[in-house]
Amino acid sequence: MKAAVNKLGGGRKWSSSVRIPEPGPKQVLVRVVTASPNPIDYKISPMRPGVVAGQDAAGVVEKVGKEVRGLEVGDRVVSHAAGCMAEFVLCNVGCVAKLPENWTFEQAAPLPTAYLSALQGLRDHGKMKEGDKVLVVGASGACGTAGVQLAKALGASEVVGVCSSRNVELVKELGADRVVDYTSETILEVVGDDFFDVVFDSVGGYVAKVRPTMKKGAMYVALNGGAVSWIKSLTGLGGGTEKLMMARFPSRDIRTVIELLDKTGARPHIGHLFKEFNFEEVERAYGMLKSHRTRGNLVLRINAAES
Ligand SMILES: NC(=O)c1ccc[n+]([C@@H]2O[C@H](COP(=O)([O-])OP(=O)(O)OC[C@H]3O[C@@H](n4cnc5c(N)ncnc54)[C@H](OP(=O)(O)O)[C@@H]3O)[C@@H](O)[C@H]2O)c1
Repeated sequence: MKAAVNKLGGGRKWSSSVRIPEPGPKQVLVRVVTASPNPIDYKISPMRPGVVAGQDAAGVVEKVGKEVRGLEVGDRVVSHAAGCMAEFVLCNVGCVAKLPENWTFEQAAPLPTAYLSALQGLRDHGKMKEGDKVLVVGASGACGTAGVQLAKALGASEVVGVCSSRNVELVKELGADRVVDYTSETILEVVGDDFFDVVFDSVGGYVAKVRPTMKKGAMYVALNGGAVSWIKSLTGLGGGTEKLMMARFPSRDIRTVIELLDKTGARPHIGHLFKEFNFEEVERAYGMLKSHRTRGNLVLRINAAES
């Protein structure tokens, strides 16, 4: 099969002869229809040479492992799928969710990483409740657009997004009640002090800027941080009201995201759809991501929806 494979030292190379893998007892083989690239793919690629890139995919079940229950050949699915920049990928059943008919493969591919990060950031680490006031930093990116949409769907009374001037309208369209244009104003100038219950920071490093705008006991949850913050977070020494989180990918959370977005009628904002699966398009997608200027999610079409 065709696949984009991580190279030693970083980056990817193209191969047309990667062996199609066989599913283990609790795995399914998925014919990938769409895949969504994430920054984590290129961050970890130097540490995983020879491995197919990518981790978010939507597609059709092609083969089912011996112990798999509840999934059948031909099912439309979305999954965390390590190695999905390829025509086929193995998925662990605990990460696979069936895709309802009212969802397209393009819409579904970004759900695992961006939307599960936002869901877990708000609901689990941020302890968000209905009626809370929520700040989303990086509101125009993949995790940030997810954060805005999910904060609304979870019942926030006010969602404020932070982005640059060119993305202000997009972030409002996605549901933010107010938008802070970080190129011309500060969050404190816009909302005043003692305002937010939860801050979801998909950029990282905003804690000092947002602290005065947070209520006492409010939670600050970030997706990025320095080495010391990661050590504290991963060893459980962090605690308190500042969290650096690592997303997980259970299928039940994918189903929750689908239900929440169906409730409000929202869908992932696809900043760019790459319609051909070839090396140039894969590299163009990762090049765009590395610019840190993409809007919403990037999606690549890998195979046609029908085989
Ligand atoms: N810890 C975890 O489990 C986890 C999970 C998922 C992602 N992540 C990490 O989280 C980060 C975000 O991921 P992503 O997929 O959302 O990235 P992304 O889609 O590439 O983010 C791009 C967006 O970032 C915005 N941005 C850049 N600098 C900004 C700033 N200073 N203030 C506000 N917005 C800014 C840009 O908006 P403007 O052009 O308007 O500035 C752009 O829309 C990545 O580093 C990723 O590796 C971590």
